[in-house]
Amino acid sequence: MAFIPEHLVEEVRQASEIVDVVSEYVTLKKRGQNYFGLCPFHAEKTGSFSVHPDKQIFHCFGCGAGGNVFTFIMKETGVSFPEAVRILAKRAGIAIPEPDELDGGSQEREALFYACELAADFFVQRLWSPEGEKARAYLEQREFREKDIRDFGLGYAPAEWSALHDYALSKGMKADVLQKAGLLNKRDSGGFYDRFRDRLMFPIYNLSGKVIAFGGRKLNGDDSVPKYVNSPETDIYHKSNVLYGLFQARDHIRDAKVAVFVEGYTDVMRLVSEGFRNTVATSGTALTELQARLIRRYTDRVVMLYDSDTAGAAATMRGADVLVEQGVDVRVGELEEGEDPDSFLRKYGADALQQRLAYALPLLDYKTRSLPHLRGKEAYAEKLHSLIATLSRIQDGVERQEKIHFYAEKMKIDEEMLWDEVRRLRKLQRSRRAGEQRRRDAGATSIMLPAGKSSYADKSRVVEEELVRIMIQNHETVAFIRSFMQVTDFYHDSYRMIASLLYELDENNVRLEPEDLIHYFADQEAGEFVSKVVLHEPRFEGITQDDYRRAADCLAKLQRLMLETRIDELREQIRDREKSGGDSSELATELYELTMQRKQIKAENFIVE
Ligand code: UTP
Ligand code: MN
Repeated sequence: MAFIPEHLVEEVRQASEIVDVVSEYVTLKKRGQNYFGLCPFHAEKTGSFSVHPDKQIFHCFGCGAGGNVFTFIMKETGVSFPEAVRILAKRAGIAIPEPDELDGGSQEREALFYACELAADFFVQRLWSPEGEKARAYLEQREFREKDIRDFGLGYAPAEWSALHDYALSKGMKADVLQKAGLLNKRDSGGFYDRFRDRLMFPIYNLSGKVIAFGGRKLNGDDSVPKYVNSPETDIYHKSNVLYGLFQARDHIRDAKVAVFVEGYTDVMRLVSEGFRNTVATSGTALTELQARLIRRYTDRVVMLYDSDTAGAAATMRGADVLVEQGVDVRVGELEEGEDPDSFLRKYGADALQQRLAYALPLLDYKTRSLPHLRGKEAYAEKLHSLIATLSRIQDGVERQEKIHFYAEKMKIDEEMLWDEVRRLRKLQRSRRAGEQRRRDAGATSIMLPAGKSSYADKSRVVEEELVRIMIQNHETVAFIRSFMQVTDFYHDSYRMIASLLYELDENNVRLEPEDLIHYFADQEAGEFVSKVVLHEPRFEGITQDDYRRAADCLAKLQRLMLETRIDELREQIRDREKSGGDSSELATELYELTMQRKQIKAENFIVE
């Protein structure tokens, strides 16, 4: 994140009268103290959208959107917090230093963003120069329109070893930064060369609209080189966490209430061009849990429209279950043998594709379609297993039960057998999870949660909140906190959800801008808390030294709280037992041990070296 000094943020806030700013986007009418208009964030005919000049906030009674002038710009234009500040600063004529003039740890990431932006501009410029003739001819032959090519920011990487290298250096970039951004490769003999040469370049954007990586397609049929060369993982690009096209598609996905998943960059460009703007690509890799969580924020329905070949079918199967596990209703669209969505559209047109999407089969129907014909054949077991795999991933118990019953009946499968198999798989999944968790948290001193104690629930809330806040604000503390607390140690649902995501990201070495975290929560309470911390409690460089100390205090507090709750519980049990004349000596021993422990526990136990 481009950290902007707090006094500048404040200056911009004061210079940006919310009524004036909002008026540039929404027609407002004054009624009493406040202003009203049609909400820009949801479709409506009555004006539920209000702006309150006294509090400098906006609020929509229709969709619940609300916030201050920065949040308004962020929502309206889809930018991140620092960018919203920049937009408003520009409007107010306040100068904000460019990222490289600001100091601090995020400078390095800013440099990578900058390198990618510079490269994207360079590639675009080359595409439209005489040098790009070949690439343009290729696009023309594939019937891509200039508008789409420009909208998607396509470019051309010249067939040279140091075209980008020389250009970027002439702009004052350093070669090692370009290499860290995945744009240059290092020679064994020293020195650098362009990673992308003679390729059609697809820029990949993050959810703030910044270029973070590229896919480069070859322009000829030369079988000795790979079809695509992609950016490697970098500090700003984590493949497992990106859906190609999501930045542009997300509003359309929300409106359409469904997303279309395709495999290729070209498929996205073709579908969007033909009006299917809710399309994203998984880019030919296996769908990850993070990607599934990401899409779940925008919709709970996905139509998978993969290439119609064996590889595509296999990828559909693997990816679908990952989506199901995140509560997504998955349908599978089918194309003629040998076609991908791009070629299908070109051959048969948009109406035909619309039909395919409309008739996409629910995943379980797709999976069981051929089952009756296979009875007695070898492939039967395999298909059956695939059905069971999906059933076992349905998280909602009622839905799972209904589906098991329905498909058992429909497919004439013994329902008891289905149940047994689903249970067996779920148990396996659980123990695998637990195993992973144990491996991850090896050495973690897990704290036992007392069962159902309301006093614990009340008292732990603020502490868990603070822990989660620290992790959001400073990702480096995640590993530390994780070594003391497992996901399941979080008592409160929303904090547990947030912690689980932060742990997951940490586990995958994915480093996100804090404001991008907001994109992950379908759960309202969790989402609102994250937005609150990220948007309204902005933090600036230079105050992070205290974070470990804060985290340690919280952990110590929780530990004490748990002990105390357990001690209270024990005392009660001992009283009960004595009343009924039973033997309470074992409980008393435990009580004694816990009391001793409580004495020992001090915040100092958690001090980090
Ligand atoms: P495809 O081979 O289907 O490519 O791979 P495509 O994008 O549809 O391209 P055209 O239409 O044939 O020109 C699907 C996706 O898999 C990834 C890319 O993200 C591609 O868009 N891929 C494929 C690679 O990363 N490397 C490869 O060598 C091939
Ligand atoms: Mn393809």
